[in-house]
Amino acid sequence: MTYNNILLETSDAIATVTINRPKALNALNRETLEEMLTCFNELAQDRSVQVVIITGAGEKAFVAGADISFMQGLTPDEGKVFGRLGHAVTRTIENLPQPVIAAINGFALGGGCELSLACDIRLASDNARFGQPEVNLGIIPGFGGTQRLPRLIGKGLANELLFSGKIIDALEACRVGLVNRVVAQDRLMAECRELAVLIASRGPAAVRLCKEVVNNGMEMDLHRACSYEADLFALCFAGAEQKEGMMAFLEKRPPKFQAN
Ligand code: CAA
Repeated sequence: MTYNNILLETSDAIATVTINRPKALNALNRETLEEMLTCFNELAQDRSVQVVIITGAGEKAFVAGADISFMQGLTPDEGKVFGRLGHAVTRTIENLPQPVIAAINGFALGGGCELSLACDIRLASDNARFGQPEVNLGIIPGFGGTQRLPRLIGKGLANELLFSGKIIDALEACRVGLVNRVVAQDRLMAECRELAVLIASRGPAAVRLCKEVVNNGMEMDLHRACSYEADLFALCFAGAEQKEGMMAFLEKRPPKFQAN
């Protein structure tokens, strides 16, 4: 499948999705979001892909937000449809069976910051900038920022960003836990790929179960979440992966896992 606004490249079980509208700093209009939805739904079915990386084209932006030119003339009803489309994309990413790494290579503002929040792991280049500047446009974040940002960095810090619309740099984003680490821009994709290769070398079913239990468990109370973890832990013993992984350890050799 070819797309007008995104690039999809797959090699060695790692799919890289690049938002490709560099002239508009990769801003998300309806067509881009629709293409992302199609692409991520297809990746969800692709058992050969074990890790997904999302990034933005060019050296300046990951995604500078939802497309303001597109949103300018929207009615409330159209705004709702557009917001729901953004939610469908972020929820699809969050629910992908594969881990998703955001390679944040520049501005991650508004819908761009929200896109990164839907990913499982965020690495940033040193020129990355983060913020939810929506209040400066007379709107609120519409792709989950009011909910995922406080859950990730805490309500007080999130409120400061959400209410002020201020932009923070990559080091500050790292300090508050918005990204895992900051690397030189020319190292960003290599670092993301190294991490993706490491994840792809682990038991694929175990990695998928880990993602599932973290995401679903975070929405439960601790007691129910631990009971859920116990169920999925038990499930591991029904599969070939646990047998191979433990046998390999005892035989002092690396495990050979099958892609599932
Ligand atoms: N939507 C549409 N176009 C955008 C855009 C966006 N979010 N961000 C940048 N662009 C376009 C600019 O209009 C410009 O286009 P032209 O060359 O045709 O004029 C081009 O990208 C380059 O941008 P700038 O000239 O502005 O570049 P800069 O280096 O001077 O500034 C910037 C960079 C600080 C990121 C600035 O572009 C900016 O503030 N962008 C908007 C950021 C923003 O407010 N994002 C939130 C959007 S609302 C949202 O996302 C809602 C939601 O939650 C769903």
